[in-house]
Amino acid sequence: MTKLNFNKILITGGAGFIGSNFCRYMMRKYPDIEISMLDALTYAGNPDNFRDLEQDSRFRFIHGDIRDKEVIEELVSQVDAVVNFAAETHVDRSLYFAGDFVETDVVGTYTLLEAARKCGVERFLHISTDEVYGSIEQDSFNEEAPLNPSSPYSASKGGGDLLMRSYFVTYKLPILITRSSNNFGPYQYPEKLIPLFITNAIDDKPLPLYGDGLNVRDWLFVQDNCEAIETVLYKGAPGEIYNIGGDNERTNNEITKLILKLLNKPETLIQPVKDRPGHDRRYSIASTKVKKLGWTPRTDFETAMKTTVDWYVQNQAWWRKLKDKSFDKFYNKHYGKDGEAAPVEK
Ligand code: NAD
Ligand code: DAU
Repeated sequence: MTKLNFNKILITGGAGFIGSNFCRYMMRKYPDIEISMLDALTYAGNPDNFRDLEQDSRFRFIHGDIRDKEVIEELVSQVDAVVNFAAETHVDRSLYFAGDFVETDVVGTYTLLEAARKCGVERFLHISTDEVYGSIEQDSFNEEAPLNPSSPYSASKGGGDLLMRSYFVTYKLPILITRSSNNFGPYQYPEKLIPLFITNAIDDKPLPLYGDGLNVRDWLFVQDNCEAIETVLYKGAPGEIYNIGGDNERTNNEITKLILKLLNKPETLIQPVKDRPGHDRRYSIASTKVKKLGWTPRTDFETAMKTTVDWYVQNQAWWRKLKDKSFDKFYNKHYGKDGEAAPVEK
């Protein structure tokens, strides 16, 4: 890695899954780093995700919203770089609350961009997603592919990306974008496929598998993504977009069966349910460009899955609290009782 030439970083959305892993990773690696972490603590933001970091004087938490112009301007004026993880992130929720996604993923990104333009920063790295390209039957998307989003989530992420690009072209703001594939690992909110299925299986609850279970995602261990984000932050060229894939495409059926095997649970827990509307069949991205910067996913998939399953087994207090709160309200309202999706109609 090149020498750290800036050490004051504003990390937004750092109380969530990837952002908290990234804060922890950077604190361990860089003794001189100073992190200001802002998060609105939505249902997905969790103080338990960064409690250990708060003991360290190099880390400070600010409870705030990326759409709050005054707070954001003040914070951006104090740092060298911004890394934006803050977003509404769950596709299923975007089907019911699209407005929240537009507000944070588009308007919030705009507010950060304006502050960065006004104050000046060395780098503004925006964390985006492979979902902006939409589904692909064969081959893989590179960074030149057109945006073809399917859900309000991916459309709002695409909107944020386009604003980022415009601030580079128009104002020469040194922006960067990463578009990663599906992450998994410790601290992921138990609404997403892997943590939902691990935690349901631990409790012998059904695993609601959408459609025929043959949708494909490219799974990336969160630690590998943190290393990729670090690589792009310090070595990426301003104005550029970098895909970050795990080189690990699996069907949802395969993921589900692996989880059950690792937990020694029966496959009878699999419950086929009605498909997600607008469900993208396959995501696949080429990561050639970021690999030229020296990054490659290092973690063996099966080992990372075991690490992840073990983490959820050992940290039940962490996820049980979450499943007892807003989680069940959402699932009971939209998917039926007890957090189970509606069974498929015969
Ligand atoms: P997450 O849902 O776990 O965390 C999102 C965080 O953003 C939460 O802490 C939440 O409180 C915060 N937040 C939401 N709205 C906010 C606002 N208005 N102001 C300030 N904070 C706000 O998400 P994640 O899975 O860690 O994803 C982080 C980023 O990575 C997102 O931008 C997401 O689109 C992107 N991404 C995620 C994945 C994945 O598989 N999880 C893959 C590719 C890209
Ligand atoms: O590709 C990157 C994206 O990955 C990120 O940008 C998103 O923030 C993140 O949520 C994720 O989106 P997905 O829709 O791919 O993830 P999710 O975990 O919701 O679903 C993964 C697959 O599993 C998808 O094909 C739908 C399926 N699924 C999901 C859930 C929650 C089920 O079959 N049953 C479920 O209960």
